[in-house]
Amino acid sequence: MHVVTCIAPVNIAVIKYWGKRDEVLIVPTNDSLSGTLSMEQMHAKTTIMASPNFKKNCIWLNGKEESFDNERLLTCLREVQRRAERDGANKDLLKWHIHVCSENNFPTAAGLASSAAGYACFVYTLAQLYSVKGDVSQIARQGSGSACRSLAGGFVRWHMGSAPDGSDSIATQVVPETHWPEMRVIILVVNDKKKKVSSTSGMQRSVLTSELLKHRITYCVPQRVKDIEKAIISKDFNTFAEITMKDSNQFHAVALDTYPPAVYMNDVSHAIVDFIHCFNKAKKSTKVAYTFDAGPNACLYLLESAVAETIALVNHFFPGHNSKNIIQGLPVPPANVQET
Ligand code: PMV
Repeated sequence: MHVVTCIAPVNIAVIKYWGKRDEVLIVPTNDSLSGTLSMEQMHAKTTIMASPNFKKNCIWLNGKEESFDNERLLTCLREVQRRAERDGANKDLLKWHIHVCSENNFPTAAGLASSAAGYACFVYTLAQLYSVKGDVSQIARQGSGSACRSLAGGFVRWHMGSAPDGSDSIATQVVPETHWPEMRVIILVVNDKKKKVSSTSGMQRSVLTSELLKHRITYCVPQRVKDIEKAIISKDFNTFAEITMKDSNQFHAVALDTYPPAVYMNDVSHAIVDFIHCFNKAKKSTKVAYTFDAGPNACLYLLESAVAETIALVNHFFPGHNSKNIIQGLPVPPANVQET
């Protein structure tokens, strides 16, 4: 029997991925860029066992058995095995069935990038099991698009690519985790329930119905990606924060421009947006940036020097949202997929 356990981090996009050119290959309609979070408080952990005695492939997610008959899961398995075969992996091992146990130590499907960490971990663990070398972001992408960005630390860009087979739609590191050590992320958990509209169906609907999405991918994102990369490289927090907030706002505007609309933010999310703008105005410079994925929870990017005051003010203005709901001080470094 062969057993491998790995953990993988969550990533939070500052330029959002929203829209696929191909639903099966999961190639996006725009480049996206994210920060990888440290793994102390938020990670996916996956153990994969392969044995000649297993009768079929099985998977348990957070302790509950799920069907392995899932196209994305099967695609990732097939692609890693194909790579392993090419690299000369043990033929017997490739024939054995596998048992997969995966768990997140944070709410699943509440817009907290759980599928990103989950699929990154699944693909990375499979790659370790079969001794596959090299970049597997192209495979992780086929599990959940944003998963490809969880395979590197620091800030990571997912290139949309243009090859018909998706071979150049990969994630690459923009800067390593050591580049901007003062950077922090705080997550304010507004609601940890499963979201009503999954990102898959939300973005599918946006591609079909949103005029604003066309404008976004053609006229806004390409320049934003260039500008935010430059801001990250030169550690220009003001520009980084402004682009991050504008891109989150535009993504949610696209979600609302979708027909029927996909509504992810709630009243508390909007109150957090107002709070951050008031805070930045009072400070006469941009100290904190918010960004929201496909859910109501706020992810705040800020520098270490602003963490204590921000948390104190959040506790003051959102007393119902006590420290249990704040996943705080998550630094972007140091994070990477690891073998445990
Ligand atoms: O990878 P998916 O299918 O869960 O989509 C993620 C989409 C967003 O989280 C909203 C944006 C992003 O780039 O992570």
